[in-house]
Amino acid sequence: MLVAAKDMHYTSHDGRQVLDGTAGLWCCNAGHGRQPIVEAIQKQAALMDYAPPFQMGHPAAFELANRLSEISPDGMNHVFFTNSGSESVDTALKMALAYHKANGESSRTRFIGREKGYHGVGFGGISVGGLGNNRKQYGNQLPGTDHLPFFYDRNKQGFSKGEPTSGAEAAEALEQLVALHDASTIAAVIVEPMVGSAGVYITPTGYLQKLREICDKHGILLIFDEVITGFGRLGAAFAAEKYSVTPDMMTTAKGLNSGTVPMGAVFVQDKIYNTIVDAAAENMIELFHGYTYSAHPIAVAAALASQKLYKDEGLFERAAELAPYWQDAIHSLKDANHVVDIRNSGLVGGVELEPRPGKPTARAYDVFVKAYEKGLLVRTTGDIIALSPPLIISKEQIDELFSILRDTLAETN
Ligand SMILES: Cc1ncc(COP(=O)(O)O)c(C=O)c1O
Repeated sequence: MLVAAKDMHYTSHDGRQVLDGTAGLWCCNAGHGRQPIVEAIQKQAALMDYAPPFQMGHPAAFELANRLSEISPDGMNHVFFTNSGSESVDTALKMALAYHKANGESSRTRFIGREKGYHGVGFGGISVGGLGNNRKQYGNQLPGTDHLPFFYDRNKQGFSKGEPTSGAEAAEALEQLVALHDASTIAAVIVEPMVGSAGVYITPTGYLQKLREICDKHGILLIFDEVITGFGRLGAAFAAEKYSVTPDMMTTAKGLNSGTVPMGAVFVQDKIYNTIVDAAAENMIELFHGYTYSAHPIAVAAALASQKLYKDEGLFERAAELAPYWQDAIHSLKDANHVVDIRNSGLVGGVELEPRPGKPTARAYDVFVKAYEKGLLVRTTGDIIALSPPLIISKEQIDELFSILRDTLAETN
């Protein structure tokens, strides 16, 4: 049980300080209990608790949308607010359908995801997602989805520092899916620009460019799910910026307001917004979609304060500056007990362990529990330890994090 949090630390129920190696759940990018965010939330709660987002609006929502479009890739000047990453994903998929319909191509209804992809837990998200466990209890999901193959090959990419230099050719499988289904049936491709929840897999150099080219060639929309990578995680505002590939839409949440109040946002290119809006009859609702808590005033206030803090403290740049130190530190575990691969980019890292024979996940789970007892919070998926500290982490805390992890691995059988 966690009972309090400040800056880089949680307080456990038994009063111990625990170093946050995961930014909560990939979300508290500014660290915990930051005063400007706390004050903005308190002030907004007293000023106006809630305003309906249908028919009505409130100025801070527009201020936030404008602020976000300043840091988003060129041409991405429209933002739709949601309450989570899952809602952002389902919103983006619906927008893709609405866009093609407005564009006179209503046969484009198919979505392409990727094996190992995680796009939240809505029906849209699990359908394009590629994690069997998240799908198997839930029937047929969205009809007509298909999946790109995964790009990871440990023999070729294992222990890469930063982006693997091989593997981009896996994107060419999209041409095969286009040949199979025909481009006229495909609405959008959705991928995480860095595979987070499945265990931190860094996209090979050139892969996203290739996807962009193939999507452009066939009139298919490209959606980046930046729920984890958005707001500084890779040392840039978005992965789109880091990798110089501009998608048609980006789904975000988590770091938007540093995890303080549930909130997500879908960024869309002007052409998508304009096509949908222009197709609607005057005075009619353009997109029949929205949530009671879209642009909730308290979430918006937290987001404005978080974005200001990111800027004032240069946290995205800080993540980029710390990345080489982080890389050296994580790769120093190469010879640690059980380690079979290490992956990193920006301030994110994955340490993959050899599973215990016949007992997948057990070893990593032991590491998770032991590290917590020693004062470090890590996250595990399968036998992979995922690390994504708040962007305010110091070099001393990076050293502390990996020292605890090394000791923990040494003690784990
Ligand atoms: C890439 C990605 N998309 C979507 C989601 C779902 O976000 P949420 O849990 O806020 O619904 C996540 C959550 O981890 C994610 O990593």
